Amino acid sequence: MVTLAHRLRRVAIVFASILGTAYIILVLIALLNYNPRVKIGMPIIVDDAELPGAGTRCKMDPDLGPVKVDIYTKPCMEELERMNPEIQAGGAWKPPNCQSWQKVAIVIPYRDRLGHLKILLRRLHPMLRKQQIAYRIFVVEQAGTDQFNRGRLMNIGYAEAMKEDNFDCFIFHDVDLIPEDDRNVYLCDDQARHLSSAIDEMRYHIMYYNYAGGVIALNRQNVLKVNGYSNDYWGWGNEDDDFSARTLAAGLMLTRPPEHIGRFKMVRHLKADRSNHGNSYFFTWRSRWKNDGINAIKELNYKVVEKTDLPVFTNISVDIGHPPDEKTWNERNKNQESVTML
Ligand code: UDP
Ligand code: BGC
Ligand code: MN
Repeated sequence: MVTLAHRLRRVAIVFASILGTAYIILVLIALLNYNPRVKIGMPIIVDDAELPGAGTRCKMDPDLGPVKVDIYTKPCMEELERMNPEIQAGGAWKPPNCQSWQKVAIVIPYRDRLGHLKILLRRLHPMLRKQQIAYRIFVVEQAGTDQFNRGRLMNIGYAEAMKEDNFDCFIFHDVDLIPEDDRNVYLCDDQARHLSSAIDEMRYHIMYYNYAGGVIALNRQNVLKVNGYSNDYWGWGNEDDDFSARTLAAGLMLTRPPEHIGRFKMVRHLKADRSNHGNSYFFTWRSRWKNDGINAIKELNYKVVEKTDLPVFTNISVDIGHPPDEKTWNERNKNQESVTML
């Protein structure tokens, strides 16, 4: 005789096996659809043999490696000039005897961090020469005393650099991050190459999977594809998260050097407070990214206050406009669609 207990047990077993099978199927579907967002590795420097003019192409020095960087003493500008006699006014250089891979523009958003800038330049120029990179350094300085707008400065840096030359590769570079390994090549790949994969301030680990702050390299086409940075983050925080989100939306991966190569020291400074709007503004990235970016900077009517080819860098001082007051901000954003996190 089948007791009630028996029946219940059988029902429970059937139920558990259905759940178990469904679970296994779901895991399999997830595994088959798994599309990693991040790829760790080094950029493939195109083989000499595959390029026209093969013999004249530069070769990466196999002896590059880690270096000791000094983030405490600051050189003076004359010293930097003396240490780098071969570079051209505006902070440009290219290998004299071979053809480099890409023309690289290094864009540094900047205000009131002269000490950091000198420490960075002391390190960058010799490193880029060792790496045989054809480059020019653009320091994009925000004029005035409004809240800092890192994204807007990056976009303006791109636009102003393109007026100078048809650069292939853009490296958006915080002024206070000093690379610790010459193998971390300052070139672009066909994705969003996040060069600062291990910062001492973050205990040499990526803080979170989608982190795209610090130093990031994109080729010219991809800067346009992601529509550059948002122009509307005033103050500290989230503009790099917004940038990360748009690289994902545009179908790009984040590629990173392994942590033992992507090492940077950050020059010590006081940490700014997070801006009031950053987090909530970030939640609206998806409805904004195609309009709020490089394609909108002309309408911002930014003004270049001064552009100077200094001996070791190009200084572009810009009036980037002002942040909106609270009322205008709320008015403008009330119709923005909010989305969940990545
Ligand atoms: N920055 C600047 N002046 C400022 C604020 C920011 O030059 O007053 C630039 C600088 O390139 C800096 C970057 O914006 O490295 C990021 O700001 P910060 O270093 O304060 O942020 P962190 O990454 O250290 O949190
Ligand atoms: C901020 C980013 C910042 C990161 C690391 C995040 O919470 O939104 O802008 O780069 O922290 O400091
Ligand atoms: Mn910093």
